Amino acid sequence: MNPESKVAIVTGGTRGIGRAIAKALADAGAMVAITGRHESGVSAAVSQLNEGSSGSVAGYLCDVRNYNHVKGLFEEVAGRFGGIDILVNNAGIGLFEPVETMSPEDFRAVIETNLAGVFYCCHAAIPLMKQRGGGYIFNISSLAGTNAHPRMAAYNASKFGLNGFSEALMQEVRQDNIKVSYIMPGSVNTEFGGDEPSDEKSWQLQPSDIARVILDLLAMPDRALPSRVEIRPSKPPKK
Ligand SMILES: NC(=O)c1ccc[n+]([C@@H]2O[C@H](COP(=O)([O-])OP(=O)(O)OC[C@H]3O[C@@H](n4cnc5c(N)ncnc54)[C@H](OP(=O)(O)O)[C@@H]3O)[C@@H](O)[C@H]2O)c1
Repeated sequence: MNPESKVAIVTGGTRGIGRAIAKALADAGAMVAITGRHESGVSAAVSQLNEGSSGSVAGYLCDVRNYNHVKGLFEEVAGRFGGIDILVNNAGIGLFEPVETMSPEDFRAVIETNLAGVFYCCHAAIPLMKQRGGGYIFNISSLAGTNAHPRMAAYNASKFGLNGFSEALMQEVRQDNIKVSYIMPGSVNTEFGGDEPSDEKSWQLQPSDIARVILDLLAMPDRALPSRVEIRPSKPPKK
């Protein structure tokens, strides 16, 4: 799918991986709606992304854990731009705690953001994509979608779940010309989980590496669907 003149929604596009994906799609000529939970983050990202360009990025406040927010977002973006062609389910949180001490609220926040939020967005997007004759859904999973670690039970559960969700959805909608791919990055240099992006971690993937995967998948011929991509740093520190 050529992104030029297509309409894309990138959830969690205010920083990190989502912002890099929004930039790559806008640079490729798409109209892009980014979302986040905080007004200041959304407006700062929109100004930055539109700097020196024709202003093809719009920002929306939307908590993906809230189905009514999500429904309203999709109606508004489709009404303003004429439809939805590309959905990038990127919004995600990482709260890392042993099961014994993790609060039920934190467990629910991880599952509701990383898994239920993706369902809400896909549920809202699919009918709109069918109206356009097809579309592309990208789910940003993680290598933690197959590799379990102590203190990561909630995050592992959300991303293992997201992988299964993505594979089932891919089979449900492929005959409607809607492609579904899920991308499983290893460590990316962002503020995820309270980390500070840092020059010392130059071995990490950069957000632009994940954006490049999205553009490469969009460039595949219509007949081909790479449904799962793993991407990891090529030279992590030796253990
Ligand atoms: N960084 C890594 O090493 C890594 C590795 C593998 C996979 N991933 C995945 O990549 C995705 C993006 O991570 P990142 O590293 O770019 O993280 P990040 O820098 O913390 O950015 C997360 C984005 O999600 C938004 N967000 C969080 N909760 C939200 C909610 N309930 N509703 C709407 N937006 C929400 C944040 O904005 P607000 O806070 O303003 O809402 C922000 O824009 C996540 O799904 C993560 O699991 C990251």
